[in-house]
Amino acid sequence: MKTIFSGIQPSGTITIGNYIGAMMQFVELQDEYNCFFCIVDQHAITVPQDPATLRKNIRSLAALYIAVGIDPDKATLFIQSEVPAHAQAGWIMQCVSYIGELERMTQFKDKSAGKEAVSASLLTYPPLMAADILLYNTDVVPVGEDQKQHMELTRDLAERFNKKYREVLTIPDIRLPKIGARIMSLQEPTKKMSKSDPNNKAFITPLDEPNQIIKKIKSAVTDSEGIVKYDMEHKPGVSNLLSIYSILGKKSISELEELYQGKGYGEFKGDLAEVVVNVFKPIQERYYHLIESSELDAILDRGAERANQVANKTLKKMENAMGLGRKRR
Ligand code: TYM
Repeated sequence: MKTIFSGIQPSGTITIGNYIGAMMQFVELQDEYNCFFCIVDQHAITVPQDPATLRKNIRSLAALYIAVGIDPDKATLFIQSEVPAHAQAGWIMQCVSYIGELERMTQFKDKSAGKEAVSASLLTYPPLMAADILLYNTDVVPVGEDQKQHMELTRDLAERFNKKYREVLTIPDIRLPKIGARIMSLQEPTKKMSKSDPNNKAFITPLDEPNQIIKKIKSAVTDSEGIVKYDMEHKPGVSNLLSIYSILGKKSISELEELYQGKGYGEFKGDLAEVVVNVFKPIQERYYHLIESSELDAILDRGAERANQVANKTLKKMENAMGLGRKRR
């Protein structure tokens, strides 16, 4: 069985973008692959976090992973900071990285632009992400489009390591969803939907109440044409809503275009809101049950144990190849 690894940051609310771009792929793939899904809390602290809120967000994300359909008997679900090999291998991957290539990462450029005090970890974030992936001999990494550049770097770093030392690391492939690899903001549809958007009308979260979902979709920016048609260049707002509808409503874009021919945006948005509410209703029920249960801790304990076993083996191989410490089996 081939291996999958992916991670999500517990840095606030998860959006429908994270759900469509990442989580739906995870659920779809968990039967065919040996899966490791991670709550990457060490990535979250590259920007300031309130400790109590971070703790809460970690638990919330763990519950959400299961509520959306990750089966902890099939997949390994764990918290990054509970597997010390990530930070250790992250250091090794930093030593294999060049500052120039890290400075070229668009996410680093975006997050550091105009700021005076930028943490060093914002720059060294991608080698830690590479370590996350490489520790599990990962074949495939399901992510959204915004992680493409980090994935290319991960492959480069793994190849560089193998060439310089020994063939230890598996070179992973990226997997993007066919539709929904980049869900856009509901308020500025030329911008990626992001959980750090200060305008909370710009994103929907799987835990939004039905009336919030309806309001956010009704106020989503479209255009004055009144035609439901997919055209990302000229009609980014409508196209984004069509993508969301297509994935969550399990209808093709052309089917939807036909269905809403001659109808206005009001009806289209109303139906879409109903689809979104119905997808998230059972997820919310499972979530609120789990978040209170001790079941969640047992799942995370088991996950950390299994992840530690696999990650430590690869870490030892990396250290041996580099000549770190004393030779161990
Ligand atoms: P993060 O936490 O920002 O996002 C988690 C996942 O959601 C995807 N995503 C989106 N997909 C479609 N449309 C959007 N608007 C959208 N916004 C986010 C992301 O592409 C991602 O798949 N660096 C990663 C976390 C990470 C990781 C890893 C991922 C750390 N180590 C190892 C994979 C493998 C991040 O910040 O994702």
